Amino acid sequence: MKVVSIINNKGGVGKTTLTANIGAEIANRNKRVLLIDLDPQTNLTFSFIKVDLWKSNFAKNRTIKFWFDLILDNKSSMVNFEDLIYRINNLDIIFSHTGLTDLDVDLASKFSNKLTKPTERQLKKYYVETYSYLRNELKKLKDRYDIVLIDCPPSFGMVTKNAIIASDYYLIPAKMDYLSTLGINQLRNRVCELVQIYNNYCTYLNEDIVEPKFLGVVATMVSIRNNELISAQKAFKDELIRSGIDMFKSMIRENKTIYAISPEYGIPVVLNNCNSGIYGEVKREWIELVNEFLIKVGVV
Ligand SMILES: Nc1ncnc2c1ncn2[C@@H]1O[C@H](COP(=O)(O)OP(=O)(O)OP(=O)(O)O)[C@@H](O)[C@H]1O
Ligand SMILES: [Mg+2]
Repeated sequence: MKVVSIINNKGGVGKTTLTANIGAEIANRNKRVLLIDLDPQTNLTFSFIKVDLWKSNFAKNRTIKFWFDLILDNKSSMVNFEDLIYRINNLDIIFSHTGLTDLDVDLASKFSNKLTKPTERQLKKYYVETYSYLRNELKKLKDRYDIVLIDCPPSFGMVTKNAIIASDYYLIPAKMDYLSTLGINQLRNRVCELVQIYNNYCTYLNEDIVEPKFLGVVATMVSIRNNELISAQKAFKDELIRSGIDMFKSMIRENKTIYAISPEYGIPVVLNNCNSGIYGEVKREWIELVNEFLIKVGVV
């Protein structure tokens, strides 16, 4: 099983679209896929389920928020993480909830309340514990899935950190513009810092360390003319490559019409039945991206 977090603290860069389409295409290839929506915006959730069904069957006690709430109340033994999983067609998914917004604050206060006069060992133990919740649960599912994809919120809080610590890889979708490319190095540095501190503490506590590797940047919402990236975007892509950042060869083109209507029908673009014209071209992009993705993560 390979766990991959889709991260970028910049919003609207295509994280959710990437998670949904890569997940759906991999499941189409008869691989066992689990998607986890960690974003309180719940966009991945509602790319796969109608709001009414979610409200009646999941909102109360079958979302990732419910599970985190029980951890905060020290009642995590009351729910089995596996019970959060819902099967849609050929893939599994764990839904999110808008109330997840408060989690960062709640987890942070649980952390500080516990520690009035902590010893060094206690401090390190709570730190590792706080960032390991998801890691510990996913370890138990290692024989059940080939790929787990985690759609992260556009922030670098406790939830995203839990995802990174639980991951074998992290992937960064980015638009090819000035601010987006600037943010990539900062983001990678923050991941490295997190992993370094976490591993230091694990070593101190005699626990296994983690090694989430950078899978690469996927250029999203790009404009292609005459089969080439337009020059303004190419300059940013070239700059990233020059600075030593791994880029996926496959890119995802901008197409406002197709992507605007897609999740509304509960079908990611890649699962659309139409293969002709622009739909066919867009689907081929996803197929190529997934080919590359599976080679990079070593799942064949
Ligand atoms: N290739 C594309 N072409 C045009 N529009 C797209 C494309 N990919 C995604 N979009 C649209 O852009 C918006 C942002 O995409 P998405 O939700 O995947 O980004 P995100 O990084 O998950 O955002 P957030 O940070 O808010 O979670 C959505 O409305 C989506 O439908
Ligand atoms: Mg999103």
